[in-house]
Parts: sequence; structure tokens; C-alpha cells
Amino acid sequence: MTPRYLVRTFGCQMNEHDSERIAGLLESDGYVPAEDAGDAQVIVFNTCAIRENADNRLYGNLGHLRPLKEQNPRLRIVVAGCLAQKDQGRIQERAPWVDVVIGTHALPELLDLLRRAEDEGPQMDVREYTEVFPSALPARRDVAHHAWVSIAVGCDNRCTFCIVPLVRGPQLSRPMEDVLGEVRDLGGRGVVEVTLLGQNVNTYGRDLTVPGSGRRSLFAELLRRVDRVEGIRRVRFTSPHPHDFTPDVIDAMAECGSVCEHIHFPLQSGSDRVLKLMRRSYRRARYLEWLRMIREAVPGIAVSTDIIVGFPGETEEDFAGTLDVVREARFDSAYTFQYSPRTGTPAATMPHQIPGDTVQERFDRLVALQESISLEKNEEVVGDTVEILIEGKGRKGGVQGRTRTNKVVHVDGDHASGAFLDVRVVRAHPHHLTGEVAGPASSLHQTRCVREFVAAR
Ligand code: 5AD
Ligand code: SF4
Repeated sequence: MTPRYLVRTFGCQMNEHDSERIAGLLESDGYVPAEDAGDAQVIVFNTCAIRENADNRLYGNLGHLRPLKEQNPRLRIVVAGCLAQKDQGRIQERAPWVDVVIGTHALPELLDLLRRAEDEGPQMDVREYTEVFPSALPARRDVAHHAWVSIAVGCDNRCTFCIVPLVRGPQLSRPMEDVLGEVRDLGGRGVVEVTLLGQNVNTYGRDLTVPGSGRRSLFAELLRRVDRVEGIRRVRFTSPHPHDFTPDVIDAMAECGSVCEHIHFPLQSGSDRVLKLMRRSYRRARYLEWLRMIREAVPGIAVSTDIIVGFPGETEEDFAGTLDVVREARFDSAYTFQYSPRTGTPAATMPHQIPGDTVQERFDRLVALQESISLEKNEEVVGDTVEILIEGKGRKGGVQGRTRTNKVVHVDGDHASGAFLDVRVVRAHPHHLTGEVAGPASSLHQTRCVREFVAAR
């Protein structure tokens, strides 16, 4: 009987990228996707450690699998990702029915660990450094037209709330030729959209530049070179850090026809005092100035952000500062987080931790404000004709696609995933748009190139 596997992914795009590799490795070994847990011989939880409730959810999920494992001792349960790296031996202490704990740097070892678990019992590999980039491993993609491409792993910053540097280690950039080689290969295989991934894409390449030549970021150069890859019509990236942002990246964004008109630009807080406590070394005025320059260079660009509410010591005045910046910046969308203390990070032991009900109350106010701005921003594009890339079935029949500005659009009818359509936006909602088909294939992309060509003259 063909063995089956199930991968459940929690957390960020980096984990989605790694999950594609986990699935790819298993498929290279003869596994096929399972319908559900009861049907699988290998179940992988690819975990996230950013917030506290992730731990509880993992142990809850593992608890649910225990009876399944008791019924079927041949079932192999794997915990991968950031919680595996962080909790290490504690996972098998708390859930001894877990067969493999595999950290973020050890993915290439997955098949070996599974084989060894067969003969020797529970296995763990939580090495400290990446030797093989997960991107170099085979991938199994859920969508044929889009791919995540990792350009760097780890992070050299030390934001005081963040567990990432502790679990993903210092930044290690992937050589540019490797990145380009992967993107060319993807373009040749029908992928039309890539998202370049790194914890801090602006510092991409600093660790690759020759010592003595200055630790230069190569991100703008990378964007320009990815832009030229045949077949790739949309290039996205996430995330840049406002502190390391540079004008050459704005120029590259403005000049490269495939680089989409969307930027994820994490604010975290609108109070300079809190930004300092967070060890985010930009300030509110600088952040807003970058935003102004980006919008001026790339007209119509959509901006999304991350905001943390209730960081230790955040006063009502600090929070009002965040609301002010949100009003001024007018983000298209925001990921809003309630501060969650992570053991091992400096903020976890800072004085003046904020009571849960205060955090919730501020959070609700922030969400309400952002929702109204998101709706207004979406209303601004009603009546426009935009290019969408179809991603799959929509919720109420029809299909769902995405604009270059990263807005989700629902359209009636049956259209193939991976196709480009021109749609007229007819209705706005806070989190999506409704569109009507305006044309079969897009000419807008070319329009943008022509516009740039004219501008260049
Ligand atoms: N508590 C709440 N939110 C956090 N984030 C990171 N660490 C924490 C934490 N301890 C948020 C940040 C980051 C996003 C990926 O998750 O906003 O940008
Ligand atoms: Fe965490 Fe800050 Fe690095 Fe982002 S830049 S991964 S928030 S330490």
C-alpha cells in the first residue's frame, strides 16, 4: 500500500515554504497526500513560536493524536519548525508518542530521521546552523503558478519581543546565483509569481559581500535580476525592515515591471518610546517619511503592516500614538497582534506588563479603526479595471484571485487557477473586493511596462 502523509502548517510564510519542502521530501520517498489524519502514516506539524498560544495549540493537537498512535503504532508523528527548535527535548518529554523532533535547520535530514525512528525509536535533530537551504530541496506546491523562494534565513536584529533570532539563528543569505537559478527554473516550469522570503529582506546579502568592501545589501540588485527572469510576471517580497530600508530598493521597485505594487512594511508601534523599548531603531517620523517616498515612487502601491498592541510599558498615550500613525499612514491592511511574552526574549521580563483586559480593549479599538480604513482604501478602487491572477475556488462558488496590490478579488464563473484576468471592481469590503470579468487576458502588465518606458524617456 502506498504510504500517505499529512502536513499541518502554523505561522508565517517561511513555514509554508518549509512545508512545501517537507511534502516534497516525503513525495520523493514515495509518499502521497492523505485525506485526513486517520489515513496517514506520517503526520507532520510544522510549528510557529511567535505567540504563546501556539505552544498550547501544539500540545492540544498532539494530545488528539495519542489515541490514533495507540491504535496504529506504525504511525509516525513529526514536530518541525520553530517550536521544535525552541522546545527541543521538552516536546518528547510532554508527548512521548512523538517520533521525530526536527528543528528549522535540519529539514534535509527528515527522511533519515524517519528511517532511524523505525529502528531506534524517537529521534531529534535541532542543530544550530543551516547547511543546506530548504529551497534546494524538492518541493510539492499546492498551487502550480506561485512559489515561495527563500533568499535568507535567520535574523541579525534583536527586537526585544521576538523569538525568531533565538530559533532561526543569525542571518544567512543564499547565494544570488542559487536564488536566480531557482527562479529561472520555476519560470521555465510555468510559475508566474514568486515571493522572495527573508526575515529582513533589506539586509539580504550583507553576509555574502567580501569583508572589507563594506557589508552591502544586495537586495535591490536581486530584485532587478529576478525581474528579468523569463516567465515570472509578478515578484513579491516579505518583509523589509524600516530600519534597513534603502533608496536603491525604492528605485528597483519603481523600475521593475514585475515587482508588484505592494509592500509589507512592519510598523509595530507608533510611539517612539515603545519603538525604543522594542529595539526597533527607526522612529515614527522616519517610518512615515519612507512611506511617503515609496508611495511617491510607486503610485497606487498598497501597504500592509504588522502592529503589536500592549507591549510592556505601553501607556494610553503611546497607544494613541499608534492610532495616530495608523490614521496618517492609511494602511490597506494590518496584521494586529496582542503582545505575547516569549521566554528568553528581553521584553518578557520587562516591568509594567499590560493586563489582558487593557490589551484587549486597545486591540479592539485598533482593529475597528483599521477595518474602517481598509474599507475606505478598497472603496477607492471600485470602478477600476485591474489585473488579477486566479488562485482557486472562491467561497460562494466562483473563483478568487489577487491583484498586483495583493487584494483578494472574488469573481463569478469558472476560471483556471494561474490564469490572468482583467476585472472591473464593483464592490468593496474590508478584506476583499468583488469584481466582474472585463477581459480574458491581461494587457495591464504591458501597460505598466509601457508607462515605465515612457517615463524613462
Ligand atoms: N507578541 C506579539 N506579536 C509578535 N510578533 C512577533 N513577536 C511577537 C510577540 N512576542 C509579531 C510582529 C511581527 C509578526 C510576524 O509577529 O508584529 O512582525
Ligand atoms: Fe523578529 Fe525583529 Fe528579526 Fe523581524 S526583524 S524576525 S521582528 S527580531
